[in-house]
Amino acid sequence: MSPENDGTNRNIPVHVGIIMDGNGRWAKQRGLPRTAGHLEGLKTAKRMVKEASDRGVKYLSLYVFSTENWKRAAEEVSFILGLVKQYLLKEMDFSRENKIRVRHAGNMAGLPRDIAEEIRKACEETKDFTGMQVILALNYGGRDEIVRAVNRALDAVNKNAESSAGPRGGVTEETVRNFLDNPDIPDPDLVIRTAGEFRVSNFLLWEGAYAEYYISPKFWPDWTGDDLEEAIDSYGKRERRFGGVKEART
Ligand code: IPE
Ligand code: IPE
Ligand code: MG
Repeated sequence: MSPENDGTNRNIPVHVGIIMDGNGRWAKQRGLPRTAGHLEGLKTAKRMVKEASDRGVKYLSLYVFSTENWKRAAEEVSFILGLVKQYLLKEMDFSRENKIRVRHAGNMAGLPRDIAEEIRKACEETKDFTGMQVILALNYGGRDEIVRAVNRALDAVNKNAESSAGPRGGVTEETVRNFLDNPDIPDPDLVIRTAGEFRVSNFLLWEGAYAEYYISPKFWPDWTGDDLEEAIDSYGKRERRFGGVKEART
């Protein structure tokens, strides 16, 4: 994916993914319950949608809730899912004004029915918007996405074999890719993780194969536009080789 130019002569990542981590620690630091951190984290997410869109980012994937986050206390889980629902209900005006298209990545079948319904509605309502696309990774796990994609790809391969139409044989990288949750979205160029952990925690495993990673020590609720600016600056200075070698300069 060729980086875009925002007029300031620097590379802007087309697709940015964010592992929004550190809500709990942010709250703990202030003697507050973890839920207070999630509330503040939601406010940051809203700010960052605007900041990313203003900088010309085309796709922003936000890791909201992982397939492993169900291990947390039931109250915390329902608080987070409640916040997501609130966001989807309240932020539609913002999406309309800014032409933000909402999308989902993750296992829809495992979500409570009301949340799944709100996500579907938001995706449907904004599907023709041409501004930045915000991908909510909710009940998302990279492994789960790959397994679901492989199963769908196998179904398609078997159907082709039965009807003798189309390609036969096993799945290929291309077929798996075509059955990921959002096959039309380019792979992330930059994946940011806040709160200082150096791990991927099951985020965009397939798509992030050649992403540039940026780790920030700051907790997610403390993140500002300046932090995003720094991450994008850092990205602009990286040399991406995709397994090749640097071209000789004359
Ligand atoms: C990220 O913050 C939000 C979710 C994972 C839902 P955490 O809740 O993981 O915060 P820490 O890592 O405990 O500080
Ligand atoms: C990753 O954060 C998931 C989200 C930000 C939604 P976690 O807090 O769940 O990750 P670990 O447990 O530190 O790896
Ligand atoms: Mg965490």
